[in-house]
Amino acid sequence: MSKTGPDTNTKSVFIKTYGCQMNVYDSERMKDVLAPIGYATVDSPDGADLVVLNTCHIREKATEKVYSELGQMKKLKQAQGGKMTIAVAGCVAQAEGAEIMRRQPAVDLVLGPQAYHKLPEMIARVHRSTGERLETEFETLEKFDALPKSRTADGPTAFLSVQEGCDKFCTFCVVPYTRGAELSRPVDDITLEARNLASQGVREVQLLGQNVNAYHGAAPAIEGGDEWTLAQLVRHLSKIGGFDRIRYTTSHPRDMDDDLIAAHADTPELMPFLHLPVQSGSNNILKAMNRGHTREHYLDIMRRMKDARPDMALASDFIVGFPGESDKDFEDTMDLVREVGYAIAYSFKYSERPGTPAAEMFGQVPEDVKNERLQALQALLREQQTAFNASKIGETVQVLVTGTGRNEGQMHGRSPWLQAVHFDATPDLIGQIIDVEIVGASLNSLTGQLPGQSKEVAA
Ligand code: 5AD
Ligand code: SF4
Repeated sequence: MSKTGPDTNTKSVFIKTYGCQMNVYDSERMKDVLAPIGYATVDSPDGADLVVLNTCHIREKATEKVYSELGQMKKLKQAQGGKMTIAVAGCVAQAEGAEIMRRQPAVDLVLGPQAYHKLPEMIARVHRSTGERLETEFETLEKFDALPKSRTADGPTAFLSVQEGCDKFCTFCVVPYTRGAELSRPVDDITLEARNLASQGVREVQLLGQNVNAYHGAAPAIEGGDEWTLAQLVRHLSKIGGFDRIRYTTSHPRDMDDDLIAAHADTPELMPFLHLPVQSGSNNILKAMNRGHTREHYLDIMRRMKDARPDMALASDFIVGFPGESDKDFEDTMDLVREVGYAIAYSFKYSERPGTPAAEMFGQVPEDVKNERLQALQALLREQQTAFNASKIGETVQVLVTGTGRNEGQMHGRSPWLQAVHFDATPDLIGQIIDVEIVGASLNSLTGQLPGQSKEVAA
């Protein structure tokens, strides 16, 4: 990191983030690397010196949306007499590469997910107009190495990136092409960042990775040995002090080892929430998706997780209408959902990603059938989510207070099961873990009160 302090003429950056938590995290890191060269974050692109669109490629029509947004940015740039640098980052940048600058010449630079730490350098290059403006090559550990070791935490919860990339090559997915190979960050680096976050009052840390449970980072130098698993990393982070809660996301069934399941039983800091995408309940479809696991294997993991931690909340992702999915295959998915009982799940209609094997498969499912299946699945998932939330009514749960609510005197926080909880309290509680009696529940949140609060009101 540069030792030079921020420019006296502070510049402004507007970052628009699309898509997954990984992108939210990446945007935060871009802010971190831009701060030392004088960029302050602003809430609107209007008048900004730098605009970054941190894109996501996973959803249908994502690329077209980015081009349309870029059209708007071009107008703003013209209105500012050309004094705006426009950067496209993230997965669309990786997938489209130089094509973006060809289609929208107002774009100054394009950087893939492995290159955002180079943003300051690239901006400097644009300003000096030295030609090379494209940076999408995959690099190895350099990405993690070049990040500032100190980050500014903005609240009691934080993401911590421990792993990137994916070697699984599910036939519907672009991530292995856009994010590159699986790569784990060394334990010593993670420890340094974790200590820094903890010292700033972070109480709940979410370990991030595309395949986080495939983590196999270099063991701490003083320990010797070669690599640690995610379970070892979690136990280590639970001992360094500071974190009361540890989570990890997203996992793959193929990498779920016995030790990680055991960690849920023996590490109280590890929260009872598992996001383990299954995508489909049909073995035929799982095979065509190249998932590398069966329905039975997945159900067995879910059972063992519940044995390790009976209050475990289970979550998943689903795709309906994958090529070749029959009514019976879809019924297998519905049946799996009934058997597992989810606290929350995300479901998508299959969308063709050009260049992926599934896009070339026979048996593409008509749109109306996809819609019908999605509606049926989402209705069942909503029912389960509502029931899961309602099951907490009458319980006293430990809530991490994360901020002030929309209404006067209201605060919000997070339950161990990742539910949003609203209750009346004072802002001095932010950052504390407190008991809250749950009195109401809806699809998306819980309402609660501090113990004894209702009696005081009644008296
Ligand atoms: N079509 C629909 N959904 C997809 N996902 C990934 N690729 C596709 C696609 N081509 C979903 C998967 C994944 C989640 C992040 O996005 O369910 O788990
Ligand atoms: Fe995509 Fe499959 Fe890798 Fe997940 S595991 S990122 S769905 S290829």
